[in-house]
Amino acid sequence: MAEAQANIGVVGLAVMGSNLARNLASREGNTVAVYNRTWERTETLITEHPEAGFIASETIEDFVASLQKPRTAIIMVQAGRGTDAVIDQLANLMEPGDIIVDGGNALFTDTIRREEAIRAKGLHFVGTGISGGEEGALNGPSIMPGGTKESYETLGPILASIAARADDGEPCVTHIGENGAGHFVKMIHNGIEYADMQLIAEAYDLLRNAAGYEPAEIADIFDDWNKGDLDSYLIEITAQVLRQVDAKTGKPFVDIVLDQAGSKGTGVWTVQNALDLGIPVSGIGEAVFARALSSKPAQRAAASDLPGPESPLTVEDREQFVEDVRRALYASKIVAYSQGFDAIVAGAEKYGWEIDLGAVAKIWRAGCIIRARFLGQITEAYTQTPDLVALVTAPYFREAVTGAQQSWRRVVADATWAGVPVPGFASALSYYDGLRAARLPAALIQGQRDFFGAHTYKRVDEEGSFHTLWSGDRSEVAQEGSSH
Ligand code: 6PG
Repeated sequence: MAEAQANIGVVGLAVMGSNLARNLASREGNTVAVYNRTWERTETLITEHPEAGFIASETIEDFVASLQKPRTAIIMVQAGRGTDAVIDQLANLMEPGDIIVDGGNALFTDTIRREEAIRAKGLHFVGTGISGGEEGALNGPSIMPGGTKESYETLGPILASIAARADDGEPCVTHIGENGAGHFVKMIHNGIEYADMQLIAEAYDLLRNAAGYEPAEIADIFDDWNKGDLDSYLIEITAQVLRQVDAKTGKPFVDIVLDQAGSKGTGVWTVQNALDLGIPVSGIGEAVFARALSSKPAQRAAASDLPGPESPLTVEDREQFVEDVRRALYASKIVAYSQGFDAIVAGAEKYGWEIDLGAVAKIWRAGCIIRARFLGQITEAYTQTPDLVALVTAPYFREAVTGAQQSWRRVVADATWAGVPVPGFASALSYYDGLRAARLPAALIQGQRDFFGAHTYKRVDEEGSFHTLWSGDRSEVAQEGSSH
């Protein structure tokens, strides 16, 4: 029987799990137990990394026995049914007060269900978002734990030891909220990631297919953008991808990749949940749909000879165009993040979580895929005004979109005449115009609803619900009101 000497354990030693285990082992004060369903993987890890001093077990029983109390184990397996099986095994071997952490990209409603079941056994279950990919897991991810405050007392310092550090030295981890809150916020993070990637892809498409820049030139442009407001991990890696040359053909790497974007589902979850919550996350929605459209080769082939603009746009002033695209990208990105934070507010209200939006923005400043300089401004906006109704209306962002809007409009109009699809840019601009409109055509929709379904409407000048007695002759309609 193994001796209880590890303060933390990791179950599931694929790339993310083994990198996280190595990260944990490299921090002062941690002794890390490891377990994998197949021993080969464990053996490879301990052989390749003797410096980590892992306590390795061949059976899950020995693994649990090698943990000090309260036993704390992080599960890093593919989200889905496998997670339930591992949770059950651990829960059967653990004792009240022990902590099971799910570090995969689980659906937050599964996490809520699992937390309830595990709590009934007196154990803690903590669904945790972990962002930063393989590199982040090894060197410092951004971590979004849910679960009880009590479990965070044990878990918090361990997670803080491995989290990325922002410029001010703060670790990128905070207790997000009870039960599924951590996985919910990670889901929104991924949704924003989709929107940000789509917007960057649209900027590339415009620079390439409207302005005629080559991939390597666009890489230089993105490097330049990365020195200003757009400074972010995604802009940085995009420049690297665009500079890559395919070894086999000598062509730009981006030209030899099949243009059908994959996904593992977290973007879809974000949109599905936002629809339920009634939050317009149009930027994320367009990003999910754009991936779906790209992955319909038969439809695309059938439509490939449909006409585009008769005399496509020629960009006269390329420098001005580049600057317009940069500003349009920034403004659209602000809208996408603003919408993502709206979804967090609505989720918190529905599921009863107290989520500190400033703290969320703070832990996204480093380690995660959407890390960006402007997250510092988001943190400031929510710290100054915790109940901010829309991020885009905070002073810094108001000024940013105001400065960008002429460029934004030109880019969306130019894209139309170039025949370049910009669902992200265009929907962000429409959202902005919708949000700032004094009157929306929703009034007309209310009229239509009342006409065909007697769905009633409210008046601008009187309380209550009203229904008009529509008749064939529109000049003779009668109106009846009722207050309730
Ligand atoms: C992260 C990433 C990570 C994963 C995405 C990829 O935060 O580290 O978001 O979780 O790479 O889920 O998502 P798709 O395969 O759906 O693009």
